[in-house]
Amino acid sequence: MATTRRALRRLLVSGNWKMHHDHVEALHTVRDLGLRLGADDVADVDLSVHPPFTDLRTVQTLVEADALPLALGAQHCSAHDRGAYTGEVSPQMLARLGVRYVIVGHSERRHLFGMDDATVAATLAAVLRHGMTPLLCVGETTDERAAGHTEDRLGTQLRAALAGVAPEAVATMVVAYEPVWAIGTGNAATAVDAEDACAFLRQVVAEVAGDGAAGSIRLQYGGSVNGDNAADFLAEPDVDGLLVGGASLQAASFVEIVRAARTALPPVRP
Ligand code: 13P
Repeated sequence: MATTRRALRRLLVSGNWKMHHDHVEALHTVRDLGLRLGADDVADVDLSVHPPFTDLRTVQTLVEADALPLALGAQHCSAHDRGAYTGEVSPQMLARLGVRYVIVGHSERRHLFGMDDATVAATLAAVLRHGMTPLLCVGETTDERAAGHTEDRLGTQLRAALAGVAPEAVATMVVAYEPVWAIGTGNAATAVDAEDACAFLRQVVAEVAGDGAAGSIRLQYGGSVNGDNAADFLAEPDVDGLLVGGASLQAASFVEIVRAARTALPPVRP
């Protein structure tokens, strides 16, 4: 089972720095990552880092100059390509900087900045339009979970975001299951909870975009991931990666998680 899964979908471990690290701190962190990461660490695992907008050019330059095995990611973008949208950053600008992955609909955008399902869908479409990969976040709150509405919530968020997206595009996407109650709390979901949610999300993708897309789309778990619990999540058949907040800020703790991903892979390489 695990071998089949790995053949279909490479693991993706992503670091969401949120509003941490200015561009000088970003430079030091990425340089440190470059020193610590070896070829073996990334043989079967893709990595992305998502710094604040003001760091992107610095990180891009360093990643390109040193050929570091890190994809450049952003944390958010506008649904519009250009125009009178003071304070926003266009997906077109991110694409020009070499950004590969854009987080769309993180729970902090949804809850703190009022990003609704319609805006999430428009932003996701904009990211795809510019040839980047959306990393869509979905997740239930404590109250929704307590009321037994977890699947309702996840299904509603995912269906709204994928409406109108071509199945071939859905196949290339990443969806992160990030239960709101697990983010930044130290109270991670269990591996079984993460697997149940990811299996459910994959089933919704199959209904919306077909079995091909469901087999190819990568599903991450996020919420209080660290070096001690990372391997447990990745051992689950429907969890294809991790979206890491706090533990991605230091190179040492991020690399610990990347190495845990390696231990979760089946030893099938000849
Ligand atoms: P923590 O890993 O700090 O809980 O954050 C998770 C998250 O929100 C990543 O997007």
